[in-house]
Amino acid sequence: MAEVERALDAALAPQAPAALGLAMRYAVLDGGKRLRPLLVWAAAEAAAGAPAAALASATHTAVLRAACAVELIHAYSLVHDDLPCMDNDVLRRGKPTVHVQYGEATALLAGDALQVLAFELLLEQPDAALGAALALQLARAAGHLGMAGGQAIDLASVGRRLSLAELEDMHRRKTGALLLASVQMGALAGGADAAALAALTRYGQALGLAFQVIDDVLDVVADSGILGKTAGKDAAADKPTFVSLMGLNGARQYAHDLLAQAHAALHERPVAAAQTLHDLADWVLHRSH
Ligand code: IPE
Ligand code: IPE
Ligand code: MG
Ligand code: MG
Ligand code: MG
Repeated sequence: MAEVERALDAALAPQAPAALGLAMRYAVLDGGKRLRPLLVWAAAEAAAGAPAAALASATHTAVLRAACAVELIHAYSLVHDDLPCMDNDVLRRGKPTVHVQYGEATALLAGDALQVLAFELLLEQPDAALGAALALQLARAAGHLGMAGGQAIDLASVGRRLSLAELEDMHRRKTGALLLASVQMGALAGGADAAALAALTRYGQALGLAFQVIDDVLDVVADSGILGKTAGKDAAADKPTFVSLMGLNGARQYAHDLLAQAHAALHERPVAAAQTLHDLADWVLHRSH
């Protein structure tokens, strides 16, 4: 993870015009749990059956770039998610949101620039074919059928009561898609065979959905200081969530079931070196922020 932090720091050049570079750095550095980069690395290790330190140099480069790229897309999604036209949040990762600090127009541009920087990192690497395949996976997860599409459903659902299937669909897109892509990109870069890719995909799907179920729970039970973002926003904005649909205990139980599914996917077919993925799933469920 220290390597990811250094690579992100190096990729985010402060010399971008006006305050753009500063806003990009502010959005990405010094904060965040870095779950998505962790998933990329852990999936790559599982696919390769070897620890990160033992990966071949081109593989190592591809994994590092994938880890940074997915975090850049995530950070962009948060900057835009917090804008007044979306969730209108003032606190993120324990700091004022990017638009509070730099203004709305700069926040919008910082998100745009972070998004394309992610693809620049993937496409500029020694193994061009692998870079292109990774870029395609990330583009599909972040786009209209994935994260952006999920965010559109989220905004269109304010004040509505969704069915379980509709809520699941929204969460799988807006949050699950990028988490699944993190696992799949790591698997691809680590050279997973078809069976390992299928198992890791089942793991990523269950984990991705569990993550947003817990995000909904934390919005209700956690304290803003620990969360680093304003608690209680979902109910205040009248958003349908797993808690509003099934209550706190129901949502927690549902997340537990998904955790069991994620673990089972790893153990159905022995994926080598899958302990870190197993532990990350535990952490997603038991996290406090
Ligand atoms: C928050 O994601 C937004 C969602 C997709 C639910 P994280 O909880 O991973 O946010 P950071 O990166 O740790 O700030
Ligand atoms: C956001 O979901 C998911 C994104 C694509 C950014 P939320 O709106 O629940 O995320 P938080 O709670 O603000 O982090
Ligand atoms: Mg939102
Ligand atoms: Mg939000
Ligand atoms: Mg939330």
